[in-house]
Amino acid sequence: MTILGIETSCDETGASVVWADEKSSKVNVLSNVVSSSIAFHEKTGGIIPEVAAREQIKYIIPVIKQALSEAKLNIENPSIDAIAVTIGPGLLGSLLVGVETAKTLSYIWKKPLIPVNHLYGHIYANFASEISNYPRFPAIALVVSGGHTDLVLMNSKNELKWLGGTRDDAAGEAFDKIGRLLNLSYPGGPSIEKSAKFGNSKTFDFPRPMIGSKDYDFSFSGLKTAVLREVKTIKQMNNETINDICASVQHSIVDVLVKKTMLAAEKFGTKSILLGGGVAANQKLREEFQSSIVNQALSIKFFAPPKNLCTDNAAMIAAAAFFNYKLGSFQTLDADPNLHFPEFLVK
Ligand code: KG4
Ligand code: ZN
Repeated sequence: MTILGIETSCDETGASVVWADEKSSKVNVLSNVVSSSIAFHEKTGGIIPEVAAREQIKYIIPVIKQALSEAKLNIENPSIDAIAVTIGPGLLGSLLVGVETAKTLSYIWKKPLIPVNHLYGHIYANFASEISNYPRFPAIALVVSGGHTDLVLMNSKNELKWLGGTRDDAAGEAFDKIGRLLNLSYPGGPSIEKSAKFGNSKTFDFPRPMIGSKDYDFSFSGLKTAVLREVKTIKQMNNETINDICASVQHSIVDVLVKKTMLAAEKFGTKSILLGGGVAANQKLREEFQSSIVNQALSIKFFAPPKNLCTDNAAMIAAAAFFNYKLGSFQTLDADPNLHFPEFLVK
């Protein structure tokens, strides 16, 4: 089936066409267009929701047209089987741009709508890439984005169970807030990763919150406070010190994420580990997962989407729609900024 995906949950405006083979469950990405208003947010050091939504209203139609035409489809009346749209979680104004556009197109083109949970999208990004062997189950998925840090058990492609998540700041949020206090450009994650390459991760011994707890929860707000306290004691901040702070912060976040995920993997006898979300683009995180599996001689296969499918995009939304196909009624399909993993999946 051919699915047009639409994603507007945060500051990105994305549209993508995927063709999913029902027999092999293989998802081919025919087009994946992402337009970001990040340049606006760089100036303010963070996202201003109204600015994001206003930009998305301008981008949404051109982005959809481009996605359709790159997939060689007629932009007036494309031969697609469904439209998948992110309904949450995210910023309300931004979500509404995607949801209302999807509803309108569904009405005009007479195509069914599939509402998609953005967090599922990050997991299914792993199934939208050109991978030759698919993850085997049970699998543990770690979703690490700007707003979420969640551990999810997958017993099959569409049986998900939420194990735990952050009690305060998400991993990406920690990167962003620490980046801001170091005066690095927004978003903090990629900036910290860049500086960290030149720094020594052993210079500062920042805390690894909840690394030893036996649950699957996280907490990153204390780390930000510890960095702030350290920064205040430094008389003259230079590039070398910033690089060392970045390397140490990254080390601390990566340590916690890997340790907690490996704990879950061990407990549930996992055959695969899947990473997803913007922070999954972090090379150090990917490498640490690989080496942790190798060092413990575990027969677990590690999956992480290509970097362009880690940060927000619509191909992952279309892929999630294919694996978790639940048609939404046109009238009741609404944006839900606080959507999480559904209650029945939680314990
Ligand atoms: O998934 P995403 O694009 O949007 C949300 O759903 O939130 O994730 C954005 C987050 C931001 O916090 C950003 O700093 C972080 O992902 N991020 C990274 C990297 N690239 C993006 N964090 C660490 N290293 C990166 N390379
Ligand atoms: Zn996201």
